[in-house]
Amino acid sequence: MTTSRPLPIEVRGSARQPLGMSPAQFLRDYWHKRPLLIRQAFPGFQPPIQPDDLAGLALEETALSRLIVHDEARERWKVKAGPLTEKDFAGTPDRNWTLLVQDVDKWDADVAALLKDFTFLPSWRLDDIMISYAEPGGGVGPHVDQYDVFLLQAIGQRHWAISDDPDAPKDFRPDVELKQLRHFEPTHEWLLEPGDMLYLPPDVPHDGVAFGGPCMTISVGMRAPSRAELVGDLADYLAERLPDELRYSDPDLAPAKAIGEIDRAALARVRQSVPFAAGLDDATLVDWFGRFITRYRSAQQPVPPTKALTGAALLKQIEGGARLLRHPWARMAWAKARRGATLFVNGQAYPAAAELAARICRERELAPGGKIPAAELTLLLALVNDGHLVVRKPRRR
Ligand code: SIN
Ligand code: CO
Repeated sequence: MTTSRPLPIEVRGSARQPLGMSPAQFLRDYWHKRPLLIRQAFPGFQPPIQPDDLAGLALEETALSRLIVHDEARERWKVKAGPLTEKDFAGTPDRNWTLLVQDVDKWDADVAALLKDFTFLPSWRLDDIMISYAEPGGGVGPHVDQYDVFLLQAIGQRHWAISDDPDAPKDFRPDVELKQLRHFEPTHEWLLEPGDMLYLPPDVPHDGVAFGGPCMTISVGMRAPSRAELVGDLADYLAERLPDELRYSDPDLAPAKAIGEIDRAALARVRQSVPFAAGLDDATLVDWFGRFITRYRSAQQPVPPTKALTGAALLKQIEGGARLLRHPWARMAWAKARRGATLFVNGQAYPAAAELAARICRERELAPGGKIPAAELTLLLALVNDGHLVVRKPRRR
């Protein structure tokens, strides 16, 4: 029987193996999976840039920099975005501040040369080299990053605390613009020396604080577009290449059974017209299309009433004979859903019973009357308060 030993979180590097193992082993066991501290990833490491040069770069008009000062006594964080001035630096205290400069690899060839040790990763996955300089106590506070990062200690010492607890809370402190974590319980703490390197996958809570004296840390950061960015850009890309004459078309149209319904045949035509719709389920496709088609080419939108009605007030008006008029700019459609139906109005979606959704699409003026079921009142109230239906009181004789 073979028992597998847990993977170490700390290893020792060497001039031959900066990762303390082969790139293939690192990618298999750690990359995007678990943190790794590599002691002496770069033995005898010499910083490719000096703190004064980094500060000089932060004065450049187009360099991306931030100066962060932590007022420990009052637990306040001051963030000044670059370009910075000499005066900004002159006003810094003796401790508890840090300067961060992004994209230093684009400004400095010696810094860019560090990337030769990261060629085991696709170059397009690399975002930038960010360098921080900090006086003792300086840091950005506990946070998570969305991307993998290699944190290479360049000058002085930095105390790193991380949490590899997958259930660690990730909510932000509301009072600090740095997206700092509200709660942070470290599971591991280390003091890093020049040449040591900490690898962190995305979403691992961490906090690095300059220790003892001046501290410089080099962050080799990766980038990973969000799925929303990928889909958005692909949609733009495809849209730019589709001729305007190619349009939704329905030469097979049969007489409408229910006014406003987006029926199965319509959905099939939509699926055919949209290049990447094949991978979408019916519910997603119809939810998108219903919202889209009811706001498409709308020159104006109904405006919600200044004061929202309560359900009781609406019920009283209806019982008093009020009618509900469709706002002239309200465009409606509906579709059957797994349960009941969805009513779409000007890009909004409302759950509704199929019969009610069909009736609201059919009749421009509703006279509800009789006993109104609670679900119907909820929908009518939402439509009134969103401005799609307008209450018309009965005329006094
Ligand atoms: C720093 O270098 O101060 C911050 C780096 C990080 O935590 O991502
Ligand atoms: Co970070």
